[in-house]
Amino acid sequence: METGSCRLAALWTLLSVVLSPCVCSFSPDQIDPLMYEEQLLWVSGSQGEVNTFRIPLITFTSKGSLLAFCEGRKASARDTGAKFVAMRRSTDKGATWSPTAFIVDDGLKPDGLNLGSVVVDEEVGSVILVYSICFHKYQCKPSSTMMLESLDDGLSWSPPKNLSVQLGVKAFVPGPGFGIQKRHDPAKGRLVVCGHGTLAGDGVFCILSDDHGRNWYNGAQLKSIPYNHNKKALDFNPDECQPIELTDGTIVINVRNQNRYHCNCRIVVRSYDGGLTLPIDDLYFDTELVDPTVAAGALQKDGVLFFTNPSSDQHRINLTLRWSMNNGHSWVKQAMQIWSGPSAYSCLTSLKSGSAEDQKFIYVIYEKGYKDYDETVSFVKIHLYGGR
Ligand SMILES: *[C@@H]1O[C@H](CO)[C@@H](O)[C@H](O)[C@H]1NC(C)=O
Ligand SMILES: *[C@@H]1O[C@H](CO)[C@@H](O)[C@H](O)[C@H]1NC(C)=O
Repeated sequence: METGSCRLAALWTLLSVVLSPCVCSFSPDQIDPLMYEEQLLWVSGSQGEVNTFRIPLITFTSKGSLLAFCEGRKASARDTGAKFVAMRRSTDKGATWSPTAFIVDDGLKPDGLNLGSVVVDEEVGSVILVYSICFHKYQCKPSSTMMLESLDDGLSWSPPKNLSVQLGVKAFVPGPGFGIQKRHDPAKGRLVVCGHGTLAGDGVFCILSDDHGRNWYNGAQLKSIPYNHNKKALDFNPDECQPIELTDGTIVINVRNQNRYHCNCRIVVRSYDGGLTLPIDDLYFDTELVDPTVAAGALQKDGVLFFTNPSSDQHRINLTLRWSMNNGHSWVKQAMQIWSGPSAYSCLTSLKSGSAEDQKFIYVIYEKGYKDYDETVSFVKIHLYGGR
């Protein structure tokens, strides 16, 4: 390249960095999502030792790969029973995927593993997967919280480590979804994984690590009412949840409202201290996010908040993407239907918007079927700007 044009390019790069917070070629008010690509990553009943694939998770990695995980339920579709953790990896932004690797096998436990949260530590480049075993205490105890770590972009994984030794023995199942590493103060660099307890002792609980996942401690709690009692319809029972971080450092947790307290909609709570507390004063019910009680997806990208769930107050159908320009105070009227039929759990990710290309896409993984939502796990690449 000629020196003159090189200088001009450098000047232009400098100007665009000064003039805009990101190297944005589009502005968020131009969002007009387009389903760019879809692939079925797992099909239940089609792979030897697995009966049903459920509970999909997806994450970016520090190197720009995508990792998808789910439970391979060995004998039946039930939440209890023995399982594998299945994983596939894409190094070309979702165009092609590695074959399935079974990275955990729980043996034949009557109440095997349950996913789970995946969290990327961008400061050290690791990927951490946290899951539960014997969560339902079905012929199997005690419940333990387990962790795996990959230091090579998801190619190989450490043996499972038992976090209950540090955290105490408690039935806790993370997510399902992703955990976060705080990118902003307070507690920049902290790993925050939130999940829920067993049905009697339910509620949202967060576990935290300030040393890249070596040591974990118990953080915020939002307990169900009545706590440690069996619940009735309409009791307050915050359940599966997805945390995200806003650009001001606030953590927002979007929560399944298990017993339909107050509404058939989502519960939202916030933490202003990096996951140590979830003040009840700031809890609200997002009546725009109608929900059939399910695990939903949420993602904060370049100041826009995205949300996916089966948009129906009764049934697990109609998987829909919504977005908000004001951190979830309201949602843009235009919503995008991803699948009209049976659909349930979902999870979102995106690659860091360092390039104009990565600014344009978000990635969704969700449970999809024709008769039942647990027939397949589908991956969808969404172009946020209508293919432009
Ligand atoms: C995990 O550690 C806890 C606490 O020490 C213990 O009770 C439990 O049996 C351990 N679980 C596994 C699977 O080793
Ligand atoms: C699907 O979701 C959209 C957006 O919330 C809603 O307008 C529509 O009525 C839903 N369809 C069904 C069949 O529930």
